[in-house]
Amino acid sequence: MKNIQLFKPKFRTFEICQLMTECMEKGWTGLGYKTQEIEEEWKKYTGLKYAHFLNSNTSGLHLALKILKDTNKWKDGDEIITSPVTFVSSNHAIMYENLNPIFADVDEFLCLDPKSVESKITKKTKAVLFVGIGGNAGRFNEIVNLCKQKGLKIILDAAHMSGTRIKNTSELGVGYIVDHIGKDADVSVFSFQAVKNLPTADSGMICFKNEDYDVLARKLSWLGISKDTYQRSHDKGSYKWEYDLVDVGFKYHGNSMMASMALIGLKYLEEDNTRRREICQMYEKAFQTAGIQSVEVSPYTELSSRHLYQIVVEERNKTMEFLNIRGIYPGVHYRDNTHYDMYKSQFGLNPNSLNLSEKIISLPLHLFLTDDDIEFVIQNVIESQK
Ligand SMILES: Cc1ncc(COP(=O)(O)O)c(C=O)c1O
Repeated sequence: MKNIQLFKPKFRTFEICQLMTECMEKGWTGLGYKTQEIEEEWKKYTGLKYAHFLNSNTSGLHLALKILKDTNKWKDGDEIITSPVTFVSSNHAIMYENLNPIFADVDEFLCLDPKSVESKITKKTKAVLFVGIGGNAGRFNEIVNLCKQKGLKIILDAAHMSGTRIKNTSELGVGYIVDHIGKDADVSVFSFQAVKNLPTADSGMICFKNEDYDVLARKLSWLGISKDTYQRSHDKGSYKWEYDLVDVGFKYHGNSMMASMALIGLKYLEEDNTRRREICQMYEKAFQTAGIQSVEVSPYTELSSRHLYQIVVEERNKTMEFLNIRGIYPGVHYRDNTHYDMYKSQFGLNPNSLNLSEKIISLPLHLFLTDDDIEFVIQNVIESQK
């Protein structure tokens, strides 16, 4: 019997172990050393100006909200417009800071719909939190323009977007330029969690546009301490032990073992994402012919990281059971968050989210799938819809 899982991360074990061995032999597995290397490599790869390596995307989203709230003097109860179709982390981060998540509707790309976002803006709105589901940039450019007009900050949950490229308007106003996603956000947060496109065990990267915020993020991710231990141990003179405490911070920074995994993952990210896109093309071609609806990549997206391939079916449970019996194990990304008790007061306000989140299925998508596996999934999905 087949066993085709939704995700299966591919680790270049030998190369990762070499870097991890370097860390252990040096006696430095913690903050600093390889964490600095991955930050430099990530900046080179994405073209983003600042990057700070963390223990997860969830901590990054929290830092993003905290720093923006504190520095811009937002008050408890101020509103952040966000997506109901996302993992719980996106909106927990808003709640951690006593801010109020206001859900707007998603469009056909499962990303925030600019028109719906505009309709939710009130005097209390401070920012929009955009989630690039599956690597899709949706109508992010339109959201960026809207936020500029209205003076709102943009937080990008780029958990799925390592490698996504977006079409940006060129400064000359003719044609477009291609950038790695994140340049236009006040802050972008990537996830390198165990099954993401750049898998470690758990880690992530926070990329602020503004240098002061990057400096603050570094302090807050290490308990509010002004100098990290690696910096201190490499300081000259006898004041190595001395540091200042500037704020109550958190233990959110990444470590050199995770950074070793991320450094090797990054080396293969383009190659891996190319294969993901190839798999998606096979799915797309077959489902178009068979008349099965897929969630498409938006025209603003030059290249999607293709973390997910999602189809839309009328009878999800029946379809899932049909596939499970045949050894195919898809997933769902995500249940509309207003189904959860804590957000139920906003249930039913965003019809497209509610409708699509009941019908989407994420099909197996990873680097161990053979063309035969994909063909097997395709045939069974088509069969399930007859
Ligand atoms: C959309 C989205 N946001 C945030 C997260 C949280 O990422 P992490 O596990 O790195 O904290 C995830 C992880 O699944 C996610 O899918």
